[in-house]
Amino acid sequence: MPLSLPAGQKIVVATHNPGKAKELAAILDNRFELVTAGALGLPEPEETETTFVGNALIKARASADASGLVALADDSGLSVAALGGAPGVHSARWAGPEKDFALAMRKVEERLEETEGEDSSAWFTCALAVAWPNGPAVVVEGRVDGQLVFPPRGTRGFGYDPIFLPNGHDQTFGEMDAAAKDAISHRALAFEKLKAALL
Ligand code: IMP
Repeated sequence: MPLSLPAGQKIVVATHNPGKAKELAAILDNRFELVTAGALGLPEPEETETTFVGNALIKARASADASGLVALADDSGLSVAALGGAPGVHSARWAGPEKDFALAMRKVEERLEETEGEDSSAWFTCALAVAWPNGPAVVVEGRVDGQLVFPPRGTRGFGYDPIFLPNGHDQTFGEMDAAAKDAISHRALAFEKLKAALL
């Protein structure tokens, strides 16, 4: 039987990041009954993989098996070409325990300056994994390419949004309104692929 997600299905969203939970809920368009892993008191597994896909699968699998519900997880981050793809899967960690993204953005700027190169290209990646309890899993990946700009611009969005200027646009993700970001974001692209696979 092909895997599918009927409308109204109860799904655990395996994230403890409120910014991402909000964006995922908007992208999912109220199609499902969503509960968060945080609300169910599910433990946060260690993200031990070196790829976004690997970490999304770890999180979806852990929430599905612990809750007995279908689980959706995302793993995402910013990759900078001149830094060999860093911060990548460590994007959240660069902000430190205080989740200070002003600090993380300064760190990116400093590392980029150290390269003394001209290349400010970067991309956001989002892997989305759906896992059935003690069953199969599906994983997809979306990517949006752009350039880094300093100083940061805009107060919308979250994380590294103020330094990311998507190619073909003149506003950073931090300046765009939520709907404009949702129309082109790595998360939205990944979700389109997930829809094609499952819905
Ligand atoms: P994780 O997926 O929980 O490991 O965290 C990914 C991190 O990547 C987030 O905490 C953000 O710092 C960054 N990130 C992922 N997606 C976005 C985005 O759409 N805008 C800005 N930063 C993002």
